[in-house]
Amino acid sequence: MSDRLRCAVLGATGLVGQRFCQLLSGHPMFEEPDLYGSERSENERLRDRLKLADRPVSGGDLLEKEIKRLDTDVVIREHYDAVFSALPTEVAGQVESRLRNGGVTVFTNASPHRMDPDVPLVVPEVNPEHLRLASNRGGSIIANGNCSTIGLVLTLAPSRPLRDREGERGDNAGPLRRRLPWCAILDALSNIVPYIKNEEEKLRAEPRKMLGRLKSGAIEPWDVEVSPFCTRVPVRRGHFEVVEVTFRRNRISRRSYRQWKASGGLPQEKRLPTAPERPIIVRNEPDRPQPVLDVDAGSPDRARGMAVTVGRLSYGGRRLRYSLLVHNTIRGGLQARLCYLPRPISRVVSDGT
Ligand SMILES: NC(=O)c1ccc[n+]([C@@H]2O[C@H](COP(=O)([O-])OP(=O)(O)OC[C@H]3O[C@@H](n4cnc5c(N)ncnc54)[C@H](OP(=O)(O)O)[C@@H]3O)[C@@H](O)[C@H]2O)c1
Repeated sequence: MSDRLRCAVLGATGLVGQRFCQLLSGHPMFEEPDLYGSERSENERLRDRLKLADRPVSGGDLLEKEIKRLDTDVVIREHYDAVFSALPTEVAGQVESRLRNGGVTVFTNASPHRMDPDVPLVVPEVNPEHLRLASNRGGSIIANGNCSTIGLVLTLAPSRPLRDREGERGDNAGPLRRRLPWCAILDALSNIVPYIKNEEEKLRAEPRKMLGRLKSGAIEPWDVEVSPFCTRVPVRRGHFEVVEVTFRRNRISRRSYRQWKASGGLPQEKRLPTAPERPIIVRNEPDRPQPVLDVDAGSPDRARGMAVTVGRLSYGGRRLRYSLLVHNTIRGGLQARLCYLPRPISRVVSDGT
């Protein structure tokens, strides 16, 4: 019997679902996934529904696989090691709760459960210890953050030691304050749309949870103020952000700047197949990153799109400024799952390492 993990993709015909199919095909740790969609694609084959041509779904078997209509009882009965959910928000909340209560481990891309206290919001390099939050009600839900938040949080992770030092000084009457005025630019078609429903709210709330400390079985949120302004522009792939961070008291040193280039985490230590060797790539050219040139950053080949590219980095006093580019459906859609599966998920969830 194969020791690879059995898995399924819910929403396999969607943009994010198809990314899962691309990255799971030929993956050394997973069997080819079972595919689920709505009644609209029932009995069609993945080959008939392919939307993304930028990287192949290798292996003829997966392309020929039939898409099943999603039925939660069937998914529960299959006893998958992992279920990857790329369902729309309005469907995901209820379906994922039902699966979790039925004993399934669900890695979700959708937003309804992200802020639940027992649902970790994981960026694998940044907060793998949050996996300990995952409930033990038979199954678990482990969530991916908003695709723009993930790029931001990954690039802020090297500043965590600064925060921890500030916290230890003990001369700070109130909580730490950082202000992050910034702007995320997302995709649209031949137009600019100056408002994206719910996007700025997610960007305000999620970094607080993701960069928070796990204390006595709960997240103590990072006390950070985020001021996002989000706009859709005609870019096919990638989210571009301009970030300015002001620390309350610490100066940004050359040493902390160097941490950017060296940063990595557990997925790199474990040499997981989809983990990029360097999760943050700092470009020195003033005209980078650009979506067309940098959206697929990351190596080895399986990790293309998993690295975040940072440019125009400047620091002085307590202020840090940079731009960043993150692949919205690869790092922004799949990272919490495919980077972070070193061994059977029940153990990952129970000890968070
Ligand atoms: N697009 C992005 O950049 C992005 C990035 C990060 C996160 N997300 C999140 O990821 C999720 C998926 O986004 P997407 O852009 O991939 O959506 P999408 O392209 O609209 O795909 C939705 C998928 O869900 C399936 N589905 C819809 N209603 C269903 C139902 N009642 N029962 C079972 N399956 C159903 C669809 O199947 P049929 O084709 O058979 O109808 C399709 O496979 C969303 O929660 C979104 O917010 C999106």
